[in-house]
Amino acid sequence: MNDDVVLERVTLPDGKEMVLTRWDTHVAISVGGRPLMSTHEHGSEDELGRVVAARLAGVRAPRMLIGGLGLGYTLRAALDALPADAEVVVAELVPAVVRWNEGEHGAYSGRPLRDRRVELIVGDVAAVIGGRRRFDAILLDVDNGPDALVHAGNAGLYRRAGLERAKAALRAGGVLAVWSAFPSKTFTRWLTDTGFSVEQVRATPTTPGGPRYYIWLATTPRPRRPATPRTSAASASRPKATSGGGPRRSSRARGPTRRRRRDDRTGTRGRPGARRPGTAR
Ligand SMILES: C[S@@+](CC[C@H](N)C(=O)[O-])C[C@H]1O[C@@H](n2cnc3c(N)ncnc32)[C@H](O)[C@@H]1O
Repeated sequence: MNDDVVLERVTLPDGKEMVLTRWDTHVAISVGGRPLMSTHEHGSEDELGRVVAARLAGVRAPRMLIGGLGLGYTLRAALDALPADAEVVVAELVPAVVRWNEGEHGAYSGRPLRDRRVELIVGDVAAVIGGRRRFDAILLDVDNGPDALVHAGNAGLYRRAGLERAKAALRAGGVLAVWSAFPSKTFTRWLTDTGFSVEQVRATPTTPGGPRYYIWLATTPRPRRPATPRTSAASASRPKATSGGGPRRSSRARGPTRRRRRDDRTGTRGRPGARRPGTAR
């Protein structure tokens, strides 16, 4: 028998209960009875941090915003791939989650909060997006997807106005990355309508035949260079492109081809797949 042991219950401002449980050598967080994150299955969260950090290769002193902290895997993967001069702001809504990471459970992801490049904000990532700072990347893993909210208050992050705010908070060529358990044509369209170039990555399953989640990678446009008259004199004196005022990145990789999966979306919208053998999420 490997029964779950409840380690702590926290009542969130919206009245839902967040529960930290342990079984065997693992811990898991659930909200309102829906699994949110566990130490058993974190391949796609790792991939989120890794893929976006790779996009920032060549950017000087890249600045990344991650919302939320969870069990720290996305943050860990990003830090492992980012340069020494990077700055990573992590916004986590629930103080207990921060406390769990600062305590013994932070060991699972290698204690990323101790990294000097990290600035932790205990609060709503929406407020950071709406603040004055600009980022090269914003990573959102705060729900089970734009169509599978765990926190109803997050709805505005994914709607048009929220996407406009995210775009405004990004530097030219910056990336908004959104984790999801489900595909959403509507969300893809909203991203496109907001002016992002959109790719959808299917995360690699960590276990053979395991669940494959989704990551939207939405890129803001780079500024166009002003048109130069096509006279021979102009072309003879045309300066080479410089980085001044333009995008700060030098290279980017292309993501995998996107594929669609049909989910039964009438049921509970937890993260599908096995949290541990024999236990449905
Ligand atoms: C699925 S977990 C994140 C998992 C994380 N990517 C990891 O690697 O462990 C979602 C986290 O987002 C937090 N969260 C939810 N809404 C938030 C918000 N609006 N701002 C900041 N954090 C939020 C939750 O408290 C939870 O810790």
